[in-house]
Amino acid sequence: MLRDSFGRVATDLRVSLTDKCNLRCTYCMPPEGLDWLPNAQLLSADEIVRLVTIGVERLGITEVRYTGGEPLVRREVVDIVRRTALLRPRPQISITSNGIGLARMAPALAEAGLDRVNVSLDTLDRDHFKRLTHRDRFDDVIAGLRAAHEAGLRPVKVNAVLMRGINEPEAVPLLRYCLEQGYELRFIEQMPLDAQHGWDRASMVTADEILELLSASFDLTPDDLEDRGSAPAERFLVDGGPARVGVIGSVTRPFCGACDRVRLTADGQVRNCLFATEESDLRGAMRAGASDDELAERWLAAVRGKRAGHGIDDPSFLQPARPMSAIGG
Ligand code: GTP
Ligand code: 5AD
Ligand code: SF4
Repeated sequence: MLRDSFGRVATDLRVSLTDKCNLRCTYCMPPEGLDWLPNAQLLSADEIVRLVTIGVERLGITEVRYTGGEPLVRREVVDIVRRTALLRPRPQISITSNGIGLARMAPALAEAGLDRVNVSLDTLDRDHFKRLTHRDRFDDVIAGLRAAHEAGLRPVKVNAVLMRGINEPEAVPLLRYCLEQGYELRFIEQMPLDAQHGWDRASMVTADEILELLSASFDLTPDDLEDRGSAPAERFLVDGGPARVGVIGSVTRPFCGACDRVRLTADGQVRNCLFATEESDLRGAMRAGASDDELAERWLAAVRGKRAGHGIDDPSFLQPARPMSAIGG
């Protein structure tokens, strides 16, 4: 088991398939993109499956989420999902995507064994979408969400990052839209993980503010029946339920104490936290001929050293050197 020195056990593996993306969300990366990882440094599909297999078969991983960058720009994603679904005990398999590739790929992904998807969407206005992402792909995302739902992926979750003075007025329409469509919406506090290092606390819309914004139009009650476990989202019943809305207050309501996550970057580094300052190089070890036992041992050691929390409020806090798109959200 991947147990850290505070007794937390990592069972949820987040694997970044690529640091590349076909959008340029302003809170993530600059319009010109970033210096992408060279292909030779990316794990191959076989290497990804080998590491995921070690995680599932030897280290107690029960949930595998493929992320990016944008995971669907990686052509082998369907194959990777298919091979993940063959593992025993079979893990839950999910993807976090910007939604663009889903209109085309949702049926194949569902057939390959994908259980569910989370899709980012910060506005319902086509022009605003273009300004926020620097790409005119709003219709593709909407079609992608629908395709995921039609392919039977459940639940379809929508992630919205609210930005002060930019898309706050979108909160209520976004929730109305998701309620209508049967998607589960979560609002996310913006974290200091952007490539431009432009985050500042004052422009972050807090969980309290999000709840206040929504309460003007909806009756929200905490979903007491549900054991939150290690989920980052606090969930609320909307107008008595059964529909729910989530709030992910990573900064003002941290959930680090219950964290069950471990990450594998697209270049094969284990990170024990989104905000970790150190990584453990499984790719190098693997390419130098390490056995499965040796890789598992290295991975266990990396998780043991996990810190208690992200420390965003500490005066000595330093944003990780790598941005979210390289770490895998
Ligand atoms: P499920 O609740 O299992 O559907 O997934 P999720 O919400 O954890 O995953 P998703 O990829 O949709 O991420 C939603 C938001 O939660 C993003 O802003 C992530 O960066 C954030 N998030 C995911 N894992 C962590 C974590 O370990 N720590 C923190 N602080 N934020 C996280
Ligand atoms: N803070 C919080 N969430 C972020 N995301 C991307 N960058 C940030 C950030 N700086 C969200 C995306 C996506 C999910 C993986 O993380 O909107 O839905
Ligand atoms: Fe791409 Fe996701 Fe970053 Fe937006 S948040 S630019 S979709 S990696």
